Amino acid sequence: MSPNASGWRSVEIVLKGARRMRVTGKIAEIRQWTAEARAAGKGIGLVPTMGALHVGHASLIDAARRRCGFVVVSLFVNPTQFGPGEDFDNYPRPFERDLALCEQHGVDVVFAPSAAEMYPRENLSWVTVSGITEHLCGRSRPNHFRGVTTVCTKLFNIVGCDVAFFGQKDAQQCVVIRRMVADLNMPLEILVCPTVREADGLAVSSRNQYLSAQQRKDAPIIYEALKKGREMIEAGETDPARVRERIEAVMRRVPALQIEYISLVDPETLEDVKRIGRAVLIAVAARLGPARLIDNIVVDSGR
Ligand code: PAF
Repeated sequence: MSPNASGWRSVEIVLKGARRMRVTGKIAEIRQWTAEARAAGKGIGLVPTMGALHVGHASLIDAARRRCGFVVVSLFVNPTQFGPGEDFDNYPRPFERDLALCEQHGVDVVFAPSAAEMYPRENLSWVTVSGITEHLCGRSRPNHFRGVTTVCTKLFNIVGCDVAFFGQKDAQQCVVIRRMVADLNMPLEILVCPTVREADGLAVSSRNQYLSAQQRKDAPIIYEALKKGREMIEAGETDPARVRERIEAVMRRVPALQIEYISLVDPETLEDVKRIGRAVLIAVAARLGPARLIDNIVVDSGR
């Protein structure tokens, strides 16, 4: 299957039994299908993705299946959330494999629009969340969250979903989307599912496939460092600087890892904490060869 100028042509994949999965790149079509599902009394769940699906996405789809009668997965590598020099062109697009995963996990509709379908003219209308987008990844990716919030708003409007599912690995994205939905009274619920990890602790990510064999061996140090931070806090440490230093020392064991940030922040405001109180989000970003890796852990010390 291949795209034409206006996106993926629509197809119907008939599965064993009565269930079928439909695929379209057309906004008009997805709107019609979700309207029919709604009229049949089904709740609509959306799993927004950029494709290159993995077990993390599968866990979101499974959560959507458990919660909603009709599940839509969007596959769209959104150009507006990539900055100059980032990996937009190289971002993996294994469309057939993505469809197979969706089929296996019981998706009803895959929405795979082209850029021309999503942005048919110069885009003059943006959704901007201020403040919380300026911390953490926002420092090095200035327009990234504006692209994410704009495309998510478009997807929510197009699909008309009741619930949208996101992964905790992108902790800042989850906080930003939740805040946007609350501030703008969008009529849907945001459900955040736990980070899925490989057996060695590395957070599953589409970008892990950029890693060489050696880099892949080294990458789990990020989660090891986060766990060390959690241990310190659980043992009573309240000084964020001490925890940050320890995390950094662990990460430095892999000299190839270029640390972008190690931050201990309030899980809602994303502002640096001065003293670790009840709940803290430890978030890190680092480059390893061609991959920019992010990970995080929320520690609730119950203090
Ligand atoms: O997390 C992602 O894959 C993307 O940021 C999203 C939410 C699909 C928007 O393009």
